Formats: sequence, C-alpha cells, structure tokens
Amino acid sequence: MTYTPVMPIASLAEGQTALVKVNEVEVLVCHVEGQFYAIHAQCSHARQSLAAGKLRGHQIACPLHGARFDVRTGACLAAPAQKPVASFPVMLEGGKVCVQVGEVDRPPKPKFGPI
Ligand code: FES
Repeated sequence: MTYTPVMPIASLAEGQTALVKVNEVEVLVCHVEGQFYAIHAQCSHARQSLAAGKLRGHQIACPLHGARFDVRTGACLAAPAQKPVASFPVMLEGGKVCVQVGEVDRPPKPKFGPI
C-alpha cells in the first residue's frame, strides 16, 4: 500500500485538524504535540463528520452528541459511540504529510437490487 501526500507539514498548526480525502475516504489529519495522526472523519455513532469536532490533547469530540475518540488509535473514549473509528498510518516525507488508506477502508458503494 502506498502513502498519499495530503498537505504540506507547515500548513497544519499544532492543535489543529484538517479534513482531506484519500481514495474516497474522508480523513481527519490532526497535529498534536509535534506528531501527526489520521483517523476516519466520520463518527461511529451516527456518522457525523468529526471535521468540526473540538480537539483537546489527543482527544477529538464529536460535535453532534459529544462522543470522544483518541486520534492516535481511533479508540472510542466516551459514549454515545461504542465503536472506534479507523486510524491510518501517517508518514512525513518531502515536507508533506502522507497518509496510507487501504482498499478495505473505502466506503461501500451503494447497492441497487433488481426492482
Ligand atoms: S454522531 Fe457522534 S456522538 Fe452521535
């Protein structure tokens, strides 16, 4: 699997997040204490985007019902969400933040059955 460059390292300040799309997957890139992390940008509770969530330390809070996730691992830390969100490997190369999103992480295509 390959890493996809998503943004210049310098464009994301400490404590900030940015929404990017890799292989049709919305990814939230987070900059915390000098490290970059990438998680799926969709809450595992009711699919709210985490792009407007508040980042405090390593935790991002869902703006809809307040579930919290650890941006390092995607682990769910607070209800009402029960499941983690996917986390993706990050590499810094050539001044860019690069994220690895696999085929399995793609959202399923809508299915239309016979009428
Ligand atoms: S949609 Fe995120 S906590 Fe409900």
